[in-house]
Amino acid sequence: MVNVLLNGIRGFVTEDELNAVYKRIEAAHETLAGRKGAGGEFTGWLDLPRDYDREELERIKAAAKRIGGDSEVLVVIGIGGSYLGARAAIEFVLSPFHNQKKRAAPDILFAGNNISASYVNDILEIIGGRDFSVNVISKSGTTTEPAVAFRLFKAELEKRYGAEKAAKRIYATTDRERGVLKRVADAEGYETFVVPDDIGGRFSVLTAVGLLPCAAAGLDVDAMLSGALEAMGACAEKDRTNPAWNYAAARNALYDKGYHVEVLGCYEPNFRFMGEWWKQLYGESEGKQHKGIFPASVELTADLHSMGQYLQDGGRFLQETVVTFERPVNDVMIPAQENDGDGLNFLAGQGLHGINRQAFRGTMLAHIDGGVPNIEIAADTLCERTLGQLIYFFEFACGVSGYALGVNPFDQPGVEDYKRNMFALLGKKGYEDRREELLKRL
Ligand code: PA5
Repeated sequence: MVNVLLNGIRGFVTEDELNAVYKRIEAAHETLAGRKGAGGEFTGWLDLPRDYDREELERIKAAAKRIGGDSEVLVVIGIGGSYLGARAAIEFVLSPFHNQKKRAAPDILFAGNNISASYVNDILEIIGGRDFSVNVISKSGTTTEPAVAFRLFKAELEKRYGAEKAAKRIYATTDRERGVLKRVADAEGYETFVVPDDIGGRFSVLTAVGLLPCAAAGLDVDAMLSGALEAMGACAEKDRTNPAWNYAAARNALYDKGYHVEVLGCYEPNFRFMGEWWKQLYGESEGKQHKGIFPASVELTADLHSMGQYLQDGGRFLQETVVTFERPVNDVMIPAQENDGDGLNFLAGQGLHGINRQAFRGTMLAHIDGGVPNIEIAADTLCERTLGQLIYFFEFACGVSGYALGVNPFDQPGVEDYKRNMFALLGKKGYEDRREELLKRL
């Protein structure tokens, strides 16, 4: 299981301060597990690893097999919670180069997470003449970015295969009953998968939202769920053996002392989109009522050469959390060179993984000396099981953290504001008054 190490915060918060926060964490855990708090109706993800709909899981695997059989590319359309988890999971296990690697599974391309014409053109160009399918994911079924992208890629499918055959290449993941996408899917006969009512977008990666793209990419989704189940067990503990307690307590104790920005770092590039997923999870869950830790992320060691100066010596409101991995998937050894022209023979015979580890340790100590408290989240390796553990751990810690902060971690009222303005400016029906008001201000 993941292990949360707190040596790096010792000089920044006292034992008494930490103990006081643990009391809030204990109460927050009760609220979350008892589903008694604000947003308690959106905590279906708590039991998912144990109570997942097995029939749907089999349909997911069957659909992934079908996609693998008739398509060289799967275009996954979604945004926010309907996008980041799948991309994070696939890159975590397979690497950001997954589409360039020789693999039996289809390439996975993501669309609908922006409104850029050049992005859509690029995706179409990359698909080229290859057979493709689409997985459109939208809980509400009304989000503009994926809805627009779906219209475009559906038209492309129909142009290539005709309406009837195109429909067999479209997989819709959406609400069980409501929404435009569900209506269209039923009318046109797409295979559909469910985003459960009691699970919000950013907590949905272990539903069909994340699992269908992952299965299509060739990931072992059973191993993901069993990793999550292990984390579910660890996070149920009501003491300091619970890694989610330790993480939530440390970051909140630091927040109380003025460390208002949390920088999540990792020394594995495969983790980059986990950072993006984590930012949404924590930012959207905690950033409310003018409160909350601002989540930022860095990719290490790359960003030590761009953000390193600020981290070491800039404004002192940063707390740093680093996810580390015990084992490499495949290590690479440094060879000896006879003349040692580059002076690197002192590393000869060592693996890159061990060198990376020393880079982390040296950086952590330097940042602590520079006034940045450090939390380490130690995990096993870049595999499906560890991925499942990390997903559930971060979700549980997020729910606990949000309640400890005094907000509803499961709503996102602020996200709606830009959508209303955009609809008004685009002339959508029902937004006429707002449109008038906005145009006067522009
Ligand atoms: O977490 C959230 O609620 C958001 O990020 C949504 O997932 C995002 O806006 C996409 O919404 P939908 O799945 O309804 O298209």
